Amino acid sequence: NEGALWGARFASGPSPELAELSRSTHFDWILAPYDVAGSHAHATALEAAGYLEADEAKRMHEGLDAVASKVADGTLLPQPSDEDVHGALEQALIAELGPELGGRLRAGRSRNDQIATLVRMYLIDHARVIARDILRVIDALVAQAEAHPDAILPGRTHLQHAQPVLLAHHLLAHGWPLVRELERLVDWRRRAGVSPYGGGALAGSTLGLDPALVATELGLDRPAENSLDGTAARDVVAEFAFITAMTGVDLSRLAEEIILWNTREFGFVTLHDSYSTGSSIMPQKKNPDIAELARGKSGRLIGNLSGLMATLKGLPLAYNRDLQEDKEPVFDSVQTLEVVLPAFAGMVATLQFDTQRMAALAPQGFSLATDVAEWLVKRRVPFRDAHEISGALVRVCEERGIGLEDASDELLLSVSPHLVPEVREVLTIEGSVASRAGAGGTAPVRVAEQRAELIARAQAA
Ligand code: ARG
Repeated sequence: NEGALWGARFASGPSPELAELSRSTHFDWILAPYDVAGSHAHATALEAAGYLEADEAKRMHEGLDAVASKVADGTLLPQPSDEDVHGALEQALIAELGPELGGRLRAGRSRNDQIATLVRMYLIDHARVIARDILRVIDALVAQAEAHPDAILPGRTHLQHAQPVLLAHHLLAHGWPLVRELERLVDWRRRAGVSPYGGGALAGSTLGLDPALVATELGLDRPAENSLDGTAARDVVAEFAFITAMTGVDLSRLAEEIILWNTREFGFVTLHDSYSTGSSIMPQKKNPDIAELARGKSGRLIGNLSGLMATLKGLPLAYNRDLQEDKEPVFDSVQTLEVVLPAFAGMVATLQFDTQRMAALAPQGFSLATDVAEWLVKRRVPFRDAHEISGALVRVCEERGIGLEDASDELLLSVSPHLVPEVREVLTIEGSVASRAGAGGTAPVRVAEQRAELIARAQAA
């Protein structure tokens, strides 16, 4: 078992079946740059504590730089005999520096505190990429809202026509959850900035190394308070997986609407050619595959989260090898979101809305009945009666196959003496929308304020 990180107490090397099961280089190699950064920081701590002379530390850093550039240019690759990225890179360092110096770096650290630190560093870097990509989707929604300040959308509850709203209001309603994801990432970062490095296998180190120095060198905020917790906790990973899953669900809900809006029956949007796909058999087809993939991949993001939670639930303290199973799901979530978000942003930015069709459909389904009731309330009719009167008007109009706005003066009065012709003021879509000027409402003034507020919150995150 030449070159392994352990072996002396074993009479034989690992069986090939064990090696096959144990190997993690096919997914943890992505952590190689972070492993090298950790080694640089650890070498600095060893020097500070007197375990490396200045010239030895200098050669150590040079050796690590050499290893890093071989990883970067692909000349150093994991070998079948390597168990994990940590062992492979130590082997490479020893090949650079010889066993006398190269063999000194392992003092006072364990793969357990290494891996717990490296996964945090990886996630912190990717949190930045994901936040930037989420912001692009938010920007696309805001730009569409800005481009359609007055356009009307039939607002729905239970997927049934409910009340007309501004298209901009609806688009911004998809922006807010994404702003909250940005805020979650910021909040997550406060907990993620803890460095388990120095915790050793579980109990800490006898060597008097400075974990705060290592944390600072790695761009983290502070060392872990407890070496057992530092090496065994993965809630920071699970929380990140939650944020990616929740982001996937946010996108999926908008995706579902875009898919519906893009049907012939709705006909609210047209997708740009470069953000839609064709069919191999039906020449006429233009499919919303980006929205469908976003919706589909949200299931995968949820699966990664629940798989990770299931891995963690029965684990005693401290490190257990099960913890190696944290990486594939969360790496997959990162990689998935990093391809979904840019495509999604492009699709949203290039949506073409048929605002005439949306406005024409908005009054259908008696969507102004609430406006009639609230108009009556303003004229001091108790809401209980107002609801009855408006409901009765809906019924007679439905019987006659006409809309509320088509009711004659006589018909209105036959339903209730309160329904004088002035009620028509609220029987227009524009009037209805403009009158919903309460906090958070769909009136154009409120939506314009809201848009500014959303942009500010997104930029502050
Ligand atoms: N590859 C392991 C992980 O991802 C780290 C190595 C710890 N191995 C061990 N036998 N203690 O968690």
